[in-house]
Amino acid sequence: MQENKNISKTVIRRLPRYYRFLGELLRQGVEKISSKALAERMRLTASQIRQDLNCFGGFGQQGYGYNVKELRGEIGAILHLGDKRRVIIIGAGNLGRAIALHIDFPRYGWELAAVFDRDDTLAGESIADVKVRSTAELRAFCGEPPDMAVLCIPREGAEETVKTLMECGVTAFWNFSHFDIQTCFPDARVENVHLTDSLMILSYLMEENGEQEDTVTN
Ligand code: NAI
Repeated sequence: MQENKNISKTVIRRLPRYYRFLGELLRQGVEKISSKALAERMRLTASQIRQDLNCFGGFGQQGYGYNVKELRGEIGAILHLGDKRRVIIIGAGNLGRAIALHIDFPRYGWELAAVFDRDDTLAGESIADVKVRSTAELRAFCGEPPDMAVLCIPREGAEETVKTLMECGVTAFWNFSHFDIQTCFPDARVENVHLTDSLMILSYLMEENGEQEDTVTN
């Protein structure tokens, strides 16, 4: 595997999809696959796949194709899946609970270490076997800073929360809060999620004529 310092973010963003498809192939007992067959399944072109994977040194062999398990392993390593990471969730409302219950953190080697909420009446509850704690405990808990924080709180108050977390050494945020973290904290690493963006795209596609081309995310 090559260093991936200069790989475009566009390619990086496609990797989870490769990882998912290759996992599906493994479950189906497929051991090797050509770039053409993989392209057909993923509704990409074979040259696109070769180009993407060549960014990392290329894993295929001429006339053989890709070893599914190896390729999936390499992509997982590029994405640092399996690295030990501690995750906390801020906000134990509907969204925070859904994420705690439905995201399979251990599958990627990650541990959901705690859920925090400013509503102290929730403290002590368990969600997905993880204790809800008062945000009053946040600084003390972050004495050993978690690697990632999932923000499941409203925009209001999010800036203060991020400030506290950054001061404690937490720098990576899975951000559902609609607060634009990087305008205030340019050093933070942020993945913003806006579920309604996807719904708006669907609304557009419903009125569009012709083939769906560039929107394949399945
Ligand atoms: P909710 O009202 O069920 O839960 C919010 C929880 O956060 C409450 O328990 C509240 O006490 C706690 N909270 C509020 N401010 C806090 C703070 N500064 N620190 C710690 N805890 C705090 O709301 P729900 O449905 O869980 O949604 C949470 C937020 O996520 C909402 O603001 C909503 O707009 C946003 N959201 C974003 C989505 C996206 O796609 N980006 C999708 C769904 C919700």
